[in-house]
Amino acid sequence: MNPTVERVSAVLAHVAAGEREEAIALMGEVQELREDVRQQLARDARLRSPADFAGQMAAALRQDPANRDAVNECHRAAFYLSGRSRELAGNPLYALFLAGRDGLLLDKWVHYFEVYHRALEKYRGTSPRVLEIGVYRGGGLALWRSYFGPGAVVVGIDVDPAAVDHGHGSPVMIGDQANSSFLEGVDRDHGPFDIVIDDGGHTMNQQITAVETLFPRLAQGGTYIVEDTHTSYWEEYRDRDETFVDWIRQRIDSLHAHHDPDGDADSPWATILGPITIFDSISVLTKEDRFRPFSEVAGTTDFLSQTRLRTARVADLEQQRADLAARLEEVETNLGRMQGTPPAAEADEVRALRASLRDSRRDLRELAGRVQELEIELSSTQGRLLDAWQHIRGMRNTVSWRITTPLRAGRLFNRP
Ligand SMILES: C[S@@+](CC[C@H](N)C(=O)[O-])C[C@H]1O[C@@H](n2cnc3c(N)ncnc32)[C@H](O)[C@@H]1O
Repeated sequence: MNPTVERVSAVLAHVAAGEREEAIALMGEVQELREDVRQQLARDARLRSPADFAGQMAAALRQDPANRDAVNECHRAAFYLSGRSRELAGNPLYALFLAGRDGLLLDKWVHYFEVYHRALEKYRGTSPRVLEIGVYRGGGLALWRSYFGPGAVVVGIDVDPAAVDHGHGSPVMIGDQANSSFLEGVDRDHGPFDIVIDDGGHTMNQQITAVETLFPRLAQGGTYIVEDTHTSYWEEYRDRDETFVDWIRQRIDSLHAHHDPDGDADSPWATILGPITIFDSISVLTKEDRFRPFSEVAGTTDFLSQTRLRTARVADLEQQRADLAARLEEVETNLGRMQGTPPAAEADEVRALRASLRDSRRDLRELAGRVQELEIELSSTQGRLLDAWQHIRGMRNTVSWRITTPLRAGRLFNRP
């Protein structure tokens, strides 16, 4: 264990045990703390609860990225000392994780358990096909097999050839997740997957290549999870300009592509990407066959007499009429000004203005005619819709309709 983490852990252990003076004395050995901060922490150790103290210590250490592991220890202590771990009591994935502590090595951020359980609970007992990117010592593969139950097919891939020995019953393919041909081969041989969990190398290129290759190949209703997306904020993982978090931001645009004049409404991301759920360090993407968005109106017959379509078209024509009237007025004003004693030089202009006046009057007449036609068409459509509505209401009141209601309901809900 790194010496800073060791000293910080010892301080936290004393605080947790109520041995505050011992903790304060030990803090003298944590050289990463400035003297004034150490004194403040000593006051905190005496006055605050152990969980609060652990939080204060984390805040003091987190200024320096080199203290990342020590900060993790503080947050860990704060979580367990505050009793928040009880929130995870009913989480079967967390229970399996704790139960496996003596087995295969496994390292997870604790808030992932809630995210995973929320996203994946529906697949338990359904024999899903699961791909885990990043095998390491096989702890994840074992956890997923237990969580999804017998019948689940859990496959692993890893770039490290040593991983083949850690499948413990799961097939392990060796290859690079940044190589899309390798991923396509894995999908051909073992897919289509219902679930992909990316816990591999966590660089931008690896995360983006893998999701772009594997997400479109997921089974319908599939779920794609990318772990440790905080690497988007760590320089050493940024092997291309675009970060994974940038990529996710673009997917929010893709979700709205149908409404964006510049959006690509036919891309897979606009047609098969359903909800995206973004948490601290972990993103969940779901695959669904989206239909093109449209709005619908329902309710009473009121909507028949005021369709939005009609309102929009009439408003458009009204605007055109107002524009033409303004043009006419402008032409008439100019003509009036010039008609008194038109100098020879302006004679052509007067003729042009008169022609424009004739055109504008003709346009206005045509427009009025179109508005009238539209009104007639609309009122006839409303009449027909109202007739249909009355007919349906009448039919619903007949005895035979009421008797056959359960049959129709059954047919509706039992559609293949
Ligand atoms: C965090 S560990 C995986 C832990 C495992 N998922 C678990 O829960 O026990 C990351 C693994 O990703 C592998 N890895 C790194 N870069 C990779 C790449 N480009 N393609 C595939 N695997 C990679 C590493 O060899 C390592 O075993």
